[in-house]
Amino acid sequence: MWINDILDQNKKILALSPMADMTDSAFCQIVRQIGGADVVFREMVSAEALVRDNEKTLGMTDFVDAERPIVQQIFGADPLTMAKAAEIVMEHAGPEGIDINMGCPVYKITSNFNGAALMKEAPLAAEIVREMKKVMGDTPLSVKIRLGWDDDEGFKTFIPVLEEAGVDLITIHGRTKAQGYSGVSNWDLIRQAKEIATVPLLANGDIHEPHQVWEALERTGADGVMIARGALGNPWFFEEALKLRHPKGQSKDLGGVQISLDKKIRVILEHAKLHVANSAKLKAQAKKNILLGVTAEELEKTSIVTFRKHLSWYFKSTKLGIEIPGIKEFRSELVRIQSIGELEEILKRLEEHVNKLV
Ligand SMILES: Cc1cc2nc3c(=O)[nH]c(=O)nc-3n(C[C@H](O)[C@H](O)[C@H](O)COP(=O)(O)O)c2cc1C
Repeated sequence: MWINDILDQNKKILALSPMADMTDSAFCQIVRQIGGADVVFREMVSAEALVRDNEKTLGMTDFVDAERPIVQQIFGADPLTMAKAAEIVMEHAGPEGIDINMGCPVYKITSNFNGAALMKEAPLAAEIVREMKKVMGDTPLSVKIRLGWDDDEGFKTFIPVLEEAGVDLITIHGRTKAQGYSGVSNWDLIRQAKEIATVPLLANGDIHEPHQVWEALERTGADGVMIARGALGNPWFFEEALKLRHPKGQSKDLGGVQISLDKKIRVILEHAKLHVANSAKLKAQAKKNILLGVTAEELEKTSIVTFRKHLSWYFKSTKLGIEIPGIKEFRSELVRIQSIGELEEILKRLEEHVNKLV
C-alpha cells in the first residue's frame, strides 16, 4: 500500500496535489521523470460521469506505469455512485489509491453537495467512505478536506468522523471553503489537525517554494506535504526540495535550485508533445465518429490550446528565476501558439535572445 511503503522508510510523503485540467497524465509523467515526488494525485473526475459510462471521463483516469504510485481523485455525493465509480476506476486503470474531493469550493461542485459541501454533511461523508471501502479491498482510500466550511475548526469534529468510517489518509488545506483562496493557509491549525488525526495526514496550502516544504513539515508535524501551485511551471519542485533538505553549500534563501533555460526548454517541449498526444487520444475516445475527416493538424491545434495555461505558468517571472528583458513579448506569443512547430520556433528564438544577453 503506497502510504506505508513511503512512511515505513521513515520518509515524509511529497505528493503532487490534484489540479483540474493540470495534473493529467502528461504533467504527471513529467513530474515523475524529473523525480522527487513520492506520489501523484490525478485531477478530480466525476463519479456520476464514470457511472454513466462517459468515455472521456474514463479516459481521464488512464495513466502509464511510469506515473505510479498514483492516486485518482473522484468527486460525488451519492455513496453508492461513489462506490461504483471507485470500482470502475480500479478495474479500468488500477491506481494505487483513490481520493475523495471534500475540499473543492467552486459553486458548480458544492451546489450539488460535492466537494467542500460534504464538510457540512458529516453523516453523508461517512457513508460515502464506508460504501467505497466495501468495494476497495486493500486499496487505500484518502480524503482531501479544508479546515471547514466557514468555521476554521470544522476539521476537529470532521476528521474523527472520517477515521471512524475507515479512511486511510487525510490531506488538509489550511483554509475554509468560505475563504476560497484568500488569506493564507493556516499551518498552525494544520498542526492541530495532525494532533487529532490517527491516520497519516498531509499538509496543503501555500507551500510555494521548495524550501518551504521543510518549514511546513516542521510547523505542522504532518506526515507529508501536498504541493499544487508550487509545481505548476516548476515540475522540478520536488527534486529541488530534496536537494534543499541537506543543502550542500546552497543557501536556503535561494528558495530553489536554478534550472538552466535550455534544460527548461527541453522539458517544456517534451511536456507539450505528451500533452498533445494525450489530449488527441482523449478527444478521439470521446468523439469517435465526429473525428472522422478531422486532419492531424486540426487535432494538434485544438490540443495545443489547452497547453497554453502550462506555458503561462512556465514563463511567470516567479517561476523563471531569471530576469529576461523582452520576456513580455515572448509570453504573449506563447499564449497564442497553434502548433508544436510554432512552440519550437518561439522557444528557439527565446534561447538565442537569452544567449545574446550573456
Ligand atoms: C488550477 C487548480 C485546479 C485545482 N483542482 C483541484 C482538484 O481537482 N481537486 C482538489 O482536491 N483540489 C484542486 N485544487 C486545489 C489544490 O489541490 C490545492 O489544494 C490548493 O491549490 C492549495 O494548495 P497550493 O497552495 O499548494 O496551491 C486545484 C487548484 C488549482 C490551482
